[in-house]
Amino acid sequence: METVVSGIRPTGNLHLGNYFGALRNFIQMQNEHNCFFFIADYHSLTTHPTPHDLHGNVKQVLVEYLAAGLDPEKATLYIQSDVPETAELYLFLNMNAYIGELERCTSFKDKIRQQPQNVNAGLLTYPTLMAADIILHKATKVPVGKDQEQHLEMTRQFSNRFNRMYNVEYFPEPQAFNFGQALVKIPGLNGTGKMGKSEGEGNAIFLADEPAAIRKKVMKAVTDAGPTEPNQTKPEVIENIFQLMRVVSAPETVQNFDEQYNNCQIRYGDMKKQLAEDMVAFTAPFRERINELLSDEAYISKVARMGKEKAQASASKTIREVREIIGFKSF
Ligand code: TYM
Repeated sequence: METVVSGIRPTGNLHLGNYFGALRNFIQMQNEHNCFFFIADYHSLTTHPTPHDLHGNVKQVLVEYLAAGLDPEKATLYIQSDVPETAELYLFLNMNAYIGELERCTSFKDKIRQQPQNVNAGLLTYPTLMAADIILHKATKVPVGKDQEQHLEMTRQFSNRFNRMYNVEYFPEPQAFNFGQALVKIPGLNGTGKMGKSEGEGNAIFLADEPAAIRKKVMKAVTDAGPTEPNQTKPEVIENIFQLMRVVSAPETVQNFDEQYNNCQIRYGDMKKQLAEDMVAFTAPFRERINELLSDEAYISKVARMGKEKAQASASKTIREVREIIGFKSF
């Protein structure tokens, strides 16, 4: 049995990228492993949310975890800020993290571009906070999408560095993980590559989206003028639409449009209509569960309390041992 840790930032509703990159794996892994899944609310402070938005987004993501099938009896489902041991480990790791390696991190460079008016220290040390989340429970497997690969590499670096520094074999080497083997990157609809909340309007399909919103976004998806030669290689924007279809549609449907593309008879309008309907059908059960759960305050607070208790038990054991290793001993 492996120890599994993963988290999602509460920056709004979860989209299909979050689902296929992470959440789907959480649901499969909870049956076999010792799993800790959390809501990364400390991480979300790098973008300065208002208290009202922060609280609302944490609730929304908690509900969406549950709606997607996460079972709080099987996995430990918790809110990061309910476990302040995370912050203590983050502090320890920061003492052995170097400015150069943090500045070279791709996600930091992206953030500087996205929010040049707010390049705070939390952004720079984002990878040490993420490493703290993971090694706090001594995880060996971390189900994430492809965009988190470098963060996992840095986590291994920090974890090995701690072991070397104190001459212990305390923290394991956590590996990024996906059931489908290779880590996935779900593309967005506006031709910018990755599906994500900060990648522009209309780019992401959310689990909570109404059918009309899904149809509107899909019909607006970026395409090209169409193939001119049989069997030609698909440009990225078209490959993206096919990739989205591969995750929500039946294999025969994908094959059918693939053949149409290859003999230059494809009509993108038809393909998008089909994709929209398959997305509506795929998200329908989530949408219903989300709406039911959102009004069940008693259940939400019970889940949060249970998760906090279980996560704290694991975290406080690690922190006790780490303090001892570092040399903070009681008199
Ligand atoms: P976040 O909140 O941006 O995304 C949550 C999870 O969803 C995956 N994901 C995607 N996967 C495939 N295609 C996409 N288009 C796509 N968009 C998002 C992400 O890879 C991620 O797995 N730093 C993390 C949160 C975090 C964390 C952790 C994860 C904090 N501490 C510890 C694992 C372990 C993040 O910002 O993910």
